[in-house]
Amino acid sequence: MRVGVFDSGIGGLSVVKSLYEHKLFEEIVYFGDTARVPYGSKDKNTIIRYAIEAVEFFKNFEIDLMVVACNSVSAYGLKEMQEVSNCPVFGVIEAGVKAVSKKLENKDENILVIGTKATISSNRYHESLKELGYNNINSIATPLFVPIVEEGMFGGEVLESAMRYYFKDLKQMPDAVILGCTHFPLISDEIKRFFQQKPVMIHSGEAIVEFLKERFELKKEFEKTDLKFFASDNPDFLKSVAKKWLKVEI
Ligand code: DGL
Repeated sequence: MRVGVFDSGIGGLSVVKSLYEHKLFEEIVYFGDTARVPYGSKDKNTIIRYAIEAVEFFKNFEIDLMVVACNSVSAYGLKEMQEVSNCPVFGVIEAGVKAVSKKLENKDENILVIGTKATISSNRYHESLKELGYNNINSIATPLFVPIVEEGMFGGEVLESAMRYYFKDLKQMPDAVILGCTHFPLISDEIKRFFQQKPVMIHSGEAIVEFLKERFELKKEFEKTDLKFFASDNPDFLKSVAKKWLKVEI
């Protein structure tokens, strides 16, 4: 099995890391639209247009399925991608919601969803969780976390004050936090600490691994996964981050 992974930029490497470490695929082809990132502050139609262009890009490769690592695209462009793609396309939102349903039995438990403005205003997580009967959900757009992570500030004052700012109105400590953005797994430990280690953290990469394993009954572990990285701007930077995050030679 070969998989194409699409993201608006470099953040989707957090999803590649999970796919890579679980050895699920013989090849991973990654495309990050680094020339046009961020998507999370753009409007729905722009995100859809970019998402369709990404499908065209992946038609140059022999892939068996596509994973949309970007939550903002999963929120707004998934259906449109599925319509024009030659292979199945999966987003991270369905997988994330499924992960919640496995971890939280009690439907009254408090779920906090954080993501970009696009992801939160799409209401996708909220609606899917409601359909499953969860009734205690808070959704907060936390876009400042994206540049904070890109600056490598995985802890410290700036992140701390951004967390205080975004979470000041929460009345309840969350039981689960959905990290609804590619970048947030990198600050997962800090967010969990902020909430006194209480919440279960839902990570898109781990969620999509579980989802795909179930869906395709993936058992085989590939000894070696070939990695190909493409970016619409500065591919060398993408590769240098990939090298660091995945601890591989590229
Ligand atoms: N990849 C985006 C997401 O997961 C975050 C960065 C952006 O805004 O493009 O929503």
